[in-house]
Amino acid sequence: MIKVIASTSEFLSWRQSHQAPVALVPTMGNLHLGHVSLVAEAAKNYKTVIVTIFVNPKQFGPNEDFARYPRTLADDLKALESIAADIIIFAPKDPKEIYPDGFASEITVPSLAQILCGKTRPTHFNGVTTVVYQLFSLAQAQSAYFGLKDYQQFQIIKRMCVDLRLNIKLVGMPIVRDHDGLALSSRNRYLSPEQRQQALELPQSLDQAQSILLDQGVLPCQEYISKQLQTGTWDYLELRNAETLQEIHQSDSVCLVAGAMFVGTTRLIDNRLVELNAR
Ligand code: PAF
Repeated sequence: MIKVIASTSEFLSWRQSHQAPVALVPTMGNLHLGHVSLVAEAAKNYKTVIVTIFVNPKQFGPNEDFARYPRTLADDLKALESIAADIIIFAPKDPKEIYPDGFASEITVPSLAQILCGKTRPTHFNGVTTVVYQLFSLAQAQSAYFGLKDYQQFQIIKRMCVDLRLNIKLVGMPIVRDHDGLALSSRNRYLSPEQRQQALELPQSLDQAQSILLDQGVLPCQEYISKQLQTGTWDYLELRNAETLQEIHQSDSVCLVAGAMFVGTTRLIDNRLVELNAR
């Protein structure tokens, strides 16, 4: 069963009438197999899954793609119809359902929000945490599922939950890739066939960085990254401690190789988690 709710008041009254545990999958819609994997995993553990579909204006910068971000509700419903669960789609029709007139609050995790993607998108993660906090508060879910392509986002939301003592279990799910290795993203549809090929430099560089890290260690990997940065249209390519997202130390055992690249005007992100103890 799929039920679509377009207003916050209707959503709240549904939630009040439905007291059983639920899972939450926050999305901005244009669902691909990565999103479907989150809902399918949630459905293994919960009879009812709330999927929110809201293109959140607060997480887009002034010159970003908010206006043209794909809004494909009919296709999104089809993508979820084979999942065996009661699915409640909360798809606010109007941003005012989430940000009514007078809305003035902001949730921020500044130390994690200004690094990596936050350098180029300084207001992005504040928009994410502000909307996610509100979705958590509306949904009162026991668990929330997120894709680990947005690894920094996941770490920031984890920090927010610890700091603000939010009683919700967070589940991070593996990146889903296309046959050629490109991570699935709603923004892949902006790419021309030629740009689609160019975009493969992102997963391929991460693969290469990962094998150098595993075979030779941190310093050679950093040397490789410095060389790579001179070649492409990188926003960043960095090696970080996967827990803290801070600079890597030789003794760190779980590392994150994360990159963001511009292909034309499209900005794509991807990452690899690398366990050095597995060497
Ligand atoms: O990852 C996303 O799609 C968005 O950042 C999220 C978590 C739904 C918040 O708008």
